[in-house]
Amino acid sequence: MKNKVTIVGAGNVGATTAHWLAAAEIADLVLLDIPQLEKMPMGKALDLTQAGPVRGYDAVITGTNSYADTKDSDIVVVTAGVARKPGMTREDLVQINQKIISDVMAQALAASPNAIYIMVTNPLDTMVYLAHKVTGLPRERLFGQAGVLDSARFRTFIARELNVSVENVQASVLGGHGDEMVPLVRYSTVAGVPIGELMSREQVDRIVERTRKGGGEIVELLKTGSAYYAPGASVAKMVEAILKDKKLIVPASVYLRGEYGLNDICFGVPVKLGAQGVEQIIEYKLTSEERLMFDKSVSLIRGTMSALKF
Ligand code: APR
Repeated sequence: MKNKVTIVGAGNVGATTAHWLAAAEIADLVLLDIPQLEKMPMGKALDLTQAGPVRGYDAVITGTNSYADTKDSDIVVVTAGVARKPGMTREDLVQINQKIISDVMAQALAASPNAIYIMVTNPLDTMVYLAHKVTGLPRERLFGQAGVLDSARFRTFIARELNVSVENVQASVLGGHGDEMVPLVRYSTVAGVPIGELMSREQVDRIVERTRKGGGEIVELLKTGSAYYAPGASVAKMVEAILKDKKLIVPASVYLRGEYGLNDICFGVPVKLGAQGVEQIIEYKLTSEERLMFDKSVSLIRGTMSALKF
């Protein structure tokens, strides 16, 4: 197959991303994990390959511990890191994951200097920022997945509340990942109708709150890790948008240079995804209430970023 996508970190999110991408038959895949796990990525790659005859795909899926196998990837997805355990905040993860991401980015970039990089490791916005600092990659080619997942959670809860198909629901979110998300209720619609016209303020607030805590809700249920089906599907959606040059508008965490009045921060904003990666950053006009939530989200992210040690 023509396209090559590497997924660094063959854990829950990485393997699930591979699963969705294999089913989409859109690229050959490389699953990489640390040598300490020995042949685990080879096992997952072989297993996923053997689903091909059943599901009808022919992707070549390689498991490896060596960056040599990732050479000249078109897209590199980075899920390497430690996932949140119950009671652990994303901030707790900063120090552990800083070391991992710094190492991963150096090795991945040496093998695939022209790739587009999609970060997934939490705390997301902070890890995207860190990756910028350590690689110097342009923001068009390095950004993070967060908003596709947050808006998917929002859409799920709206659809359930109104008993309609998730396909009828569009939702817009801005800001930091998860608890720091800023839902744009005005721009969230069911078959074109803003949700504010279909639900009470109390219903909207309840759904927004559940969406913000959506990651934590799953951590509490799973006990042994964090979400991976919806995160993997969200990453796969972004990969597909790039490989198919779809010009798809989705929220992504991207380095800002003046947009939304922000500088030197990675933050979730609507972007246009195509073959060049982030091809445009879209600026919405915000109401004063939205701006307040937005500013709160910015300060939460800056707080997390301050845990980075350079
Ligand atoms: N290089 C490559 N892989 C690594 C490295 C490294 N330096 N360090 C850790 N890993 C691998 C682990 O060995 C593990 O297989 O990353 C994988 C992470 O997988 P899981 O522990 O299953 O975590 P997962 O649920 O996939 O979450 C990964 O995505 O959504 C975020 O918060 C989540 O930051 C977390 C990340």
